[in-house]
Amino acid sequence: MTVLVTGGAGYIGSHTVRMLRDAGREVVVLDSLEMGHEEALLGAELVVGEIADFDLVTKLCRERRVTSVIHFAAYKSVGESMTDPFRYFSNNVGGSTTLIDAVVAAGVEQFVFSSSAAIYGSPARIPVTEDLDAHPESVYAETKWMIERVLSWIGETRGLRSVCLRYFNAAGASFDSRIGEDWSVTTNLVPIVMKAALGRRGPLEVFGNDYPTRDGTGERDYIHVVDLADGHVKALDYLDSGKPSLACNLGTGRGSTVLEVLAETARISGREVPHVFSPRRAGDPAIVFADPSLAARELGWTARHGIVEILQTAWTWHSTHIDGYGTGR
Ligand code: UD1
Repeated sequence: MTVLVTGGAGYIGSHTVRMLRDAGREVVVLDSLEMGHEEALLGAELVVGEIADFDLVTKLCRERRVTSVIHFAAYKSVGESMTDPFRYFSNNVGGSTTLIDAVVAAGVEQFVFSSSAAIYGSPARIPVTEDLDAHPESVYAETKWMIERVLSWIGETRGLRSVCLRYFNAAGASFDSRIGEDWSVTTNLVPIVMKAALGRRGPLEVFGNDYPTRDGTGERDYIHVVDLADGHVKALDYLDSGKPSLACNLGTGRGSTVLEVLAETARISGREVPHVFSPRRAGDPAIVFADPSLAARELGWTARHGIVEILQTAWTWHSTHIDGYGTGR
């Protein structure tokens, strides 16, 4: 009854591995450590290797009696996916397809996939429900959607049951500050805000202040990484109970604007966040937030933490691990 977690040494993966172990699950992590950190595993069993290594994956699944897989390992920079598309198709699509092939060959019947709200593109309706058509607007988003399709067909042809979790904007760190995000490999708002507040970079560029939102800046659904981890534990429970494949949003259903994130960070940290206003970033929609009711109904999952806890935990983590893992306190 072991759970294989690919990318378990990464940001969302490490929080999930920790919660699975706390829930009494047997876990083995497969991670190349190209982007992940061994310290983030907090002692969980690690096999260093590639998801595209068919023989390694089948052997691991058979030896460790793996019954479920949670697949996080992927590249995740939207900008880089547009300048280096083959890197993304090769790893996120080619690697994931080989992984799925290998785990099915080894008899695994349950699979949880780290998908993204990016598959909706600029959503036609807010709040975003799962029945909206996928409309990927980047190579990164397309790779996530392609693997959702692969999983749907492998369900049809091989009986693999899957849950695709479409994350909104993942942020925050663990409440005890032992694990958090590596800000050297991300371009997302919250880590950049923390970096600016800590004087580790120049002023934050606020991309656009003329959107049709409360204060003119972009509004997003920030979801605490601990809530995301809980979503994965509940997705496994859902599959364990024999239920059919599902794709669902993991979001809070509430949005925060860039200026609200800056103001709350200033309040929490006691420091002003240096920022300048810049033109809109190409492709950024004004408002995106989830309708999370499907996850509530099917998985029994709802987000328990809001933007304040996200920014509090991110602040504590970054200010005590000023250069990430292996540094700070
Ligand atoms: C990003 C990803 C998307 C992914 C989603 C959830 C991009 C383009 N998209 O979306 O694929 O599914 O996270 O993980 O990266 N902002 C600034 N200044 C900055 C950075 C961001 O003003 O320096 C603003 C953005 O315009 C946006 C908000 O902050 O309004 C959030 O941006 P970001 O963290 O990059 O996430 P998304 O673009 O929503």
